[in-house]
Amino acid sequence: MNVFESSIIITLQNNIFSGLFVGQNLLTLKEVDSTNNFLKNLLSNSKPLPEGTVIMAETQFAGRGQQNNKWHAEPGKNLTFSVLLKPSFLAIADQFDLTRAISLGVYDALYPLLGDQLKIKWPNDIYYGDKKLGGMLIENLLQGNQLKSAIIGIGLNINQENFPDGAGNATSIKQILQKDYDLQAILADICNNIEAYYLNLKAGKTDLIRNTYLTRLYGFNEIKRFKVSEVEFEGKIIGVKENGLLVINQNNKESTYNLKEIKFLNN
Ligand code: BTN
Repeated sequence: MNVFESSIIITLQNNIFSGLFVGQNLLTLKEVDSTNNFLKNLLSNSKPLPEGTVIMAETQFAGRGQQNNKWHAEPGKNLTFSVLLKPSFLAIADQFDLTRAISLGVYDALYPLLGDQLKIKWPNDIYYGDKKLGGMLIENLLQGNQLKSAIIGIGLNINQENFPDGAGNATSIKQILQKDYDLQAILADICNNIEAYYLNLKAGKTDLIRNTYLTRLYGFNEIKRFKVSEVEFEGKIIGVKENGLLVINQNNKESTYNLKEIKFLNN
């Protein structure tokens, strides 16, 4: 099936995006399996797509989350979109800096609405207090030792009022602030902020990005419960390695973990 047959395109216009490129080429789909899949297919099947292209969907019927989880979002009420970036300036070893930059962009866009309870939960979840507002699925396409392109899929719960029992600790801006928000306006703010951090990354301001990421990190320097290989323990997040591994201090011993190894408990 051709990528265009799987979805109805309802708009190709953009006028509230004030950045240089992120969101300037915006495609809004009525329905699609996953905006990440759609963007990936578009990349491989069509002429070169401009960096900053955004695919947004009203409904995703097979949204994908991290670690092979599904991403559920009530149709028309939430943000589900993917951004195309071409970070060929970034070495593969530094690809977690892109995760940091994107997380910070989303954070800064939402901070004026949500304030200090907003956090980035390692590696790239967006949290309000102990609840999950959204997350991202970043799929990097490599060429040699460099990143050719990155498909940044972002899901954020905006106007959804209720979540199924299985949705765990999900929340939405509507649940928090009791108000409905304009999805495109929030999308535009996110795109503008992502662009600003991405340009900082491109300009080599890696220390700024790494340090700022830590200041926004959920549970940083706080005692939290974790589980590794079925063993539960208390520890403190004391850092994140250049390559993105989480650094935890447990009884004055430092250990590093990847996402598959460690589970946060109580949230
Ligand atoms: C997670 O927290 O597990 C990541 C969720 C990422 C969901 C977004 S929604 C838009 C894009 N398309 C997908 O299929 N997934 C991402």
